[in-house]
Amino acid sequence: MPDSDEGNVFPGNWDVVSETLLRTYELWFPQNWSPVDLPWDECDAKNFSSDEAVAQAYWLSKLALFEKSGIGAFGAAAVQAATHQFEDPTKKFLSAVTFDECRHDEVCRRACARVCPNFPYKFKPKTELEAKAQANIFALYENGSRYWSAFNQAWGKYPLELIFSSFFFAEIGAQLIFREVAERSTNGVYAAAFTNITRDESRHLTGTLAMLERLADRMDASQKAMISRQLKHGFIYLSPLLFKPMEDFWKLPPDFFEYDQKLEYLAAKSGLGVPKVEERSEDWMKAITRHKSKIEDLGIPVPEIKEIGLAGLEVSVKKGDDIVATPL
Ligand SMILES: [Fe+2]
Ligand SMILES: [Fe+2]
Repeated sequence: MPDSDEGNVFPGNWDVVSETLLRTYELWFPQNWSPVDLPWDECDAKNFSSDEAVAQAYWLSKLALFEKSGIGAFGAAAVQAATHQFEDPTKKFLSAVTFDECRHDEVCRRACARVCPNFPYKFKPKTELEAKAQANIFALYENGSRYWSAFNQAWGKYPLELIFSSFFFAEIGAQLIFREVAERSTNGVYAAAFTNITRDESRHLTGTLAMLERLADRMDASQKAMISRQLKHGFIYLSPLLFKPMEDFWKLPPDFFEYDQKLEYLAAKSGLGVPKVEERSEDWMKAITRHKSKIEDLGIPVPEIKEIGLAGLEVSVKKGDDIVATPL
């Protein structure tokens, strides 16, 4: 027996409430691109030392964690939007973002298969560096599964508006940092892939901000304060990729960061332009500062993030708190 509280995709609607969201979603068509057509010959194990190869595969597998949570979270959000009769551009925008995240994950898969076959899932390490790289990724994925369990439970616990409203924060960081990866990459595959990924992320940012603008209208001050909290959670969740792992959530091996830095250095040296931690911290500040007044105009206080020097609303996060609603 269907439960009416669960909603239903029928009768559906073709309502257009947010013109901005419609225009953003429509941009997906002319901006479409194919990961199959990148200059893959440049991404080949024979062009790199085995340390460089595993270092590239390491960073791409780290990125893939967040792309995968993006596929799951935006996909689930698209279903929720349809079953709860959100306006049409919201449903289609969320579905298009889901496909973009698949495309980003596909870049990671293809690159790993070429430089370091079977990494990370079925890889057999032969050196200490390879073993540490794989152990780091497995530790990240194990933590990722905690995030996903909490995210799945969030649908019943929080209003949909709140979950959807928090999505944009990840896109702020992603857009700026991927632009840097594109600019710094000397390898043709990574330069082209991250130029395209940055364009996708810019579209995600415009669209998720449009969703936030519309949904914030219907929220009271306490719900808006919950968004600030989600933004802080977002920073913590994305920290291993976009800053450095925050222990509020991430339970990682004691030597995680030491090897993480070694591997990122090798990846950058061999053509995959990963910015350094200090540069990423500055990037976050720049990105948040650029959007701060827009967020505050909606009545949403920006959270304090001491780690990067951002002043704002103090949000206490206890170790082990659920982190939800932050795909990339
Ligand atoms: Fe992505
Ligand atoms: Fe994204």
